[in-house]
Amino acid sequence: MAHRGASAYAPENTLPSFELAWEMGADAIEGDFQLTVDGHVVCVHDYSIERYTGIDRRVVEMTLSELRALDFGSWKGGEWIGVSIATLEEVLSIVPSGKMLYLEIKSGPEIVPELLKQVAKARIKAEQLVFISFDQAVVTRLKREAPELVVNWLVSLESNDGVISPAPKELLQVLKLTGADGIGVEAIPDISAEFVAAIRGGGWAFHVWTVDQVALARKLAQFGSKSITTNKPDLILRALRRD
Ligand code: G3P
Ligand code: CA
Repeated sequence: MAHRGASAYAPENTLPSFELAWEMGADAIEGDFQLTVDGHVVCVHDYSIERYTGIDRRVVEMTLSELRALDFGSWKGGEWIGVSIATLEEVLSIVPSGKMLYLEIKSGPEIVPELLKQVAKARIKAEQLVFISFDQAVVTRLKREAPELVVNWLVSLESNDGVISPAPKELLQVLKLTGADGIGVEAIPDISAEFVAAIRGGGWAFHVWTVDQVALARKLAQFGSKSITTNKPDLILRALRRD
C-alpha cells in the first residue's frame, strides 16, 4: 500500500503521487482526509499547510477555493510546480477496478456525513474502500452509520525491552468496543509473530505502517500482515515478490 501515494518520490497525497503508485504496481493507496471550513473533504496530512505551501494556516479554517489556489507540489521539487490539493471526489475517481483506497480520517466524527455522501456518489465499489483512523470516535461512528464499510483502528506502539505496549489484550478490547474490522499498527521492529497471531486469532485483520525497509517488510508479511504500507512501493513490491 502506497503511503500518501508514492510519497518518497512525488508530493504526498496529490493525484500525481497516487498515479505514480499505480504505475509502480501498488495494490492500494493510502490518503489522509480532512474537512475544510466550507464542508469539503480534501486530501492532506498535516493540520497546517505550512510544510507544503509556506503558509501557516489550518485546513479546518480554510475554504476549498482558498486551498485550490495554492501550490501543493513545488515543496517536493521543481518538476511538481502547480500540483494542487486533491478533493476526496478526485481521489475516489482515480482508483482502478481491482485496486484499493485506504482513507485515513484526520478530522473528527463531524466529517462522517460528508464522507459517506461522497462515497455514495462515486462510482467506486464499497469493497475497494477501507476507512482507517486513530480516533476511536471516528471508527465507532463510521461503523454505526455504515456497518457495511470496512473500518480499521490505527494505533502507535512502544517497545520497552521487547515488551510491546499497548498489549494485544488491550488492543482487542478497543477493537471490540469500537466495532472495528481490523487494526493498523506502527511497524516497530519488535513486533513478533505471537503479537500478530494474538490479534489475528481474535478474528481481526492486522496491518502495519510505514515500512521502507526490505527486511522488516518481509518479516511482517511472513507474520501475516494483510498489508504493508510504504512510501516506496517500487522497493517493497520488488522485495516481496522475490520471496
Ligand atoms: O496508514 C496509517 C499511517 O498513515 C498513519 O500515520 O501520520 O502517516 O498518517 P500518518
Ligand atoms: Ca496516513
